Amino acid sequence: MVLIKEENIIIEDIKEDDLPDVVEIEKEAFSDPWTIDMFYSELFNPISLFWGVKDISGRLIGYISFWRVVDEAHVLNLAVHQSFRRKGIGSKILLTSIDYCKREGIKTVLLEVRRSNKAAQELYEKYGFNVIVVRPRYYKNPVEDALVMALEL
Ligand SMILES: CC(C)(COP(=O)(O)OP(=O)(O)OC[C@H]1O[C@@H](n2cnc3c(N)ncnc32)[C@H](O)[C@@H]1OP(=O)(O)O)[C@@H](O)C(=O)NCCC(=O)NCCS
Repeated sequence: MVLIKEENIIIEDIKEDDLPDVVEIEKEAFSDPWTIDMFYSELFNPISLFWGVKDISGRLIGYISFWRVVDEAHVLNLAVHQSFRRKGIGSKILLTSIDYCKREGIKTVLLEVRRSNKAAQELYEKYGFNVIVVRPRYYKNPVEDALVMALEL
């Protein structure tokens, strides 16, 4: 499914062929990255939405995955390739997801973010997410608190 097609980017479903590129971005973006098997299983998970952003040449530059659980969406992964950050790509994919959730009647979007990850927190706050609870020592490698952020639609 194609979500967005513009002059410079396209947002569409991630396919199996895209997974090596997903993992490359993931490894660079996170200290406790998901493996290719974890992403692969999302392709067959009926509650999972998994979308990639590609540039005009077809190169994968970012992705998001989230689960839809009744009237809630849970964001699992969101990352943009390091060379393409601060160009609005993260915003584009997040806003595309929020629009989809609104259309689908989802009431709340939830996610976890490391306490030290100020860039992601700024992104989420910019689009209306608030911290609702802290999960102490939620992350490993390194151990760190998670801030649970929510957006009411
Ligand atoms: C978080 C991330 C997805 C943002 O993607 P991006 O394409 O750079 O984001 P955008 O260009 O759309 O930025 C939108 C807003 O986010 C905030 N933001 C993004 N990067 C930031 C940074 N390094 N420092 C502070 N604020 C930042 C700003 O408010 C920015 O708005 P502005 O450019 O008008 O100031 C990207 O930094 C990334 O992939 N990080 C590693 C993976 C990660 O942390 N994912 C989130 C896990 S919860």
